[in-house]
Amino acid sequence: MQVTIIGSGYVGLTTGVALAYLGHQVTLLDKNPAVVSALVKGSCTIYEYGMDELMQSARHNISFTTSFAGIGSSRVILIAVGTPPKSSGDADLGFVENAVAQIAGHLDGTNYPVIVNKSTVPPGTASRVKTLVNNILLGKGIYSGVKVASNPEFLREGTAFLDALYPDRIIIGAEDRSTTEVLIELYNPIIKQSFTAPACLPRPKGYAGPVLFATNPLNAELIKYASNAFLAMKISFINEFAGLAELLNADIVDVAYGMGLDSRIGDKFLRAGVGWGGSCFGKDARAILYTAQKYGYSLPLVQAAIEVNDRQKKLVTSKIRSSLKTIPGSTIGIIGLAFKPGTDDCRETPATDLISELLNMGAFIKVYDPMAMENYQKQNPGLPVEYAADLADLAAGCDALVLLTEWEQFKNADWQSLRQLMKKNVFIDGRNLFDPRVMDELGFVYHGVGRRVRVKGHTAVADSKALS
Ligand code: UDX
Repeated sequence: MQVTIIGSGYVGLTTGVALAYLGHQVTLLDKNPAVVSALVKGSCTIYEYGMDELMQSARHNISFTTSFAGIGSSRVILIAVGTPPKSSGDADLGFVENAVAQIAGHLDGTNYPVIVNKSTVPPGTASRVKTLVNNILLGKGIYSGVKVASNPEFLREGTAFLDALYPDRIIIGAEDRSTTEVLIELYNPIIKQSFTAPACLPRPKGYAGPVLFATNPLNAELIKYASNAFLAMKISFINEFAGLAELLNADIVDVAYGMGLDSRIGDKFLRAGVGWGGSCFGKDARAILYTAQKYGYSLPLVQAAIEVNDRQKKLVTSKIRSSLKTIPGSTIGIIGLAFKPGTDDCRETPATDLISELLNMGAFIKVYDPMAMENYQKQNPGLPVEYAADLADLAAGCDALVLLTEWEQFKNADWQSLRQLMKKNVFIDGRNLFDPRVMDELGFVYHGVGRRVRVKGHTAVADSKALS
């Protein structure tokens, strides 16, 4: 099937490469010539596990362009452009509207591709897009039969290709059966699992294909917001209980495990930590709050999820303060800058707030991330921090280390040797990556999140009091 994807950002690029891998003829269109020429040369603009292998296998099915010419011959056009937040929290649909105007400007009434919103867009956008296209076409004297569908993506960064090839569900929000059929045809290899699995991403054991759910565009749009808000709320919930667990001297890791054994609750997204980051949860939660407000309604649970997350990010500073006694003049090493492992993405990473707070308090900051240093430096030009070459370079001379991203390689590092390089021995584990007892034995004054800490002079209760 001939597919054009508008926007070669995170969603557009991974979706495009996955669809090309499945055998579709994909054109990736981006208005930024630098992005397009990098992709033409085979250099990828983002890091994502599996990208090289899939891109290599799919290269004959994929082309890159900045031009909308010929877009009318596509069977499906997926819009995957950014919907950045306005200061009100509302999603800015400027890029979507721009793309739609360009599409409509290039349609001549001989063929009507199905226009699909893949970007996360406020409920009602599909219908807005349809009106916009129809008005432009009517202005050219064309009576339009354009169909607009909503087909939200649920890709997680770092596992985007796994999520694309082996999803739990495919949500198709279309206004009629024939439009739904077009999208079913698009996803048929995934629905039937008829493709050969890439070597780097074997089909998960027992996976039998996604559930296909066809509904109307409005419901599909709301499913996306409700899903992200629910996941954010789930994390905030466990983080809220992590604070209580510290006061009670309980262990949130055991509590979450015990909760997750109930299939109604499930064990996913119950990892306590320094709070959620990334480009989706915060932005989407604020956007749906704005939508509700527009209708005179409120979403107190979603509001609370944001507030708990903001509070959670600040708890780390209190833990450092209570462990080091004084922050000015201390050297603090930040382990991990990406908002989660498996990505070089630093958008809304908890590292940003923490680093600026510690710098304001007069600390000397060193940072290290195996993948995200370049991005972080680009996003924070001139930030007075030292970018370390590796974990040893980071640990050298530090009073405290603070782990913010749970990269697997951090787990396997030689912490005994790293400990020897430090000036003091404080270790704040913002992701509960380590076993407190092991870190204690290695000589660290270790603090996890919501975990029992049996370290001399540093009880969990004392920590929590310092936090409140
Ligand atoms: C999210 C949604 O999961 C995905 O379905 C949607 O399409 C886009 O937004 P993503 O932002 O890539 O995906 O990452 P995700 O794995 O959901 O993690 C988001 C944040 O939550 C990260 O900062 C992560 O560290 C944090 N997190 C996640 C927790 O703190 N605890 C958890 O248990 C899970």
